[in-house]
Amino acid sequence: MTQPVYAELDSRLPIALRAAQVAGAVLMRHFGRAVAIELKSPVELVTIADRESEAVVVAELQGAFPTDRVLAEEADGPAGAQRLGAEVHSLPWCWVVDPLDGTTNFAHGQLAFAVSIGLLHFGQPVLGVVHAPARREVFVGGVGIPPTCNGRPIRVSDVADLGNALIATGFPYDRRQRLDELTLWFRRVLERARDLRRAGAASIDLCEVAAGRLDAFYEVGLQPWDTAAGQAIVEAAGGRLTGFDGGPHDVFGQRTLASNGRLHGAVVELVAG
Ligand code: IPD
Ligand code: CA
Ligand code: CA
Repeated sequence: MTQPVYAELDSRLPIALRAAQVAGAVLMRHFGRAVAIELKSPVELVTIADRESEAVVVAELQGAFPTDRVLAEEADGPAGAQRLGAEVHSLPWCWVVDPLDGTTNFAHGQLAFAVSIGLLHFGQPVLGVVHAPARREVFVGGVGIPPTCNGRPIRVSDVADLGNALIATGFPYDRRQRLDELTLWFRRVLERARDLRRAGAASIDLCEVAAGRLDAFYEVGLQPWDTAAGQAIVEAAGGRLTGFDGGPHDVFGQRTLASNGRLHGAVVELVAG
């Protein structure tokens, strides 16, 4: 990455941080109250908090950088992501916004939810801000931007043996059509790793890999707004992201495997086939 990119990120980071803080406050205003839940599918929820949070994030980003593109979950949806995927490699700056990652947690009073704001430079994640307001944590990292949690440096773990590894996963919204592969991977992890977690917010899972609290994370079916910010933070913290085949990670590719790097080959084997 060349030097001018750093300068562009330096000007964008404070705006992304402010957007995440404002949106986090919006989420906390609704958290714990009886918010009306709409169903996007039998297992996928959306609330007024998702929509209000998205509106403030998009307004902040577009107000500050009117020529940057913005991909936002509620406005664009998976069809918008697919369309953008075809042209993203020609876009210098594209923000990717999940206004409420972990909606199911949020709706059930669980604390693991976040505002996730990533920035793509010609399709590659270069900056991430993940704000988990109920946990009072803000994760930041990117190209030339040291990875931190609440301003303190973070780093991936140095666990090298699968038997000592704490691994996380998540289940996609079409999970009932994918039970065979999901349970196969689940079973392999239980057989070989120390334990498995399913916290319910992919952006936070990735930040926990970056912070060394998890050693690896894998999930199928994720969208760019789930992974763009987290990828930038994990890579800044010395970790590695790929697809399930060990090839380059594509935030539009729906197969995400993140690790501390040392464990990567072993985790690729767990999700093979
Ligand atoms: C979901 C969460 C969850 C993951 C799902 C995502 P949402 O995002 O990140 O952990 O397992 O695949 O869709 O819908 O709460 O923004
Ligand atoms: Ca999400
Ligand atoms: Ca969401």
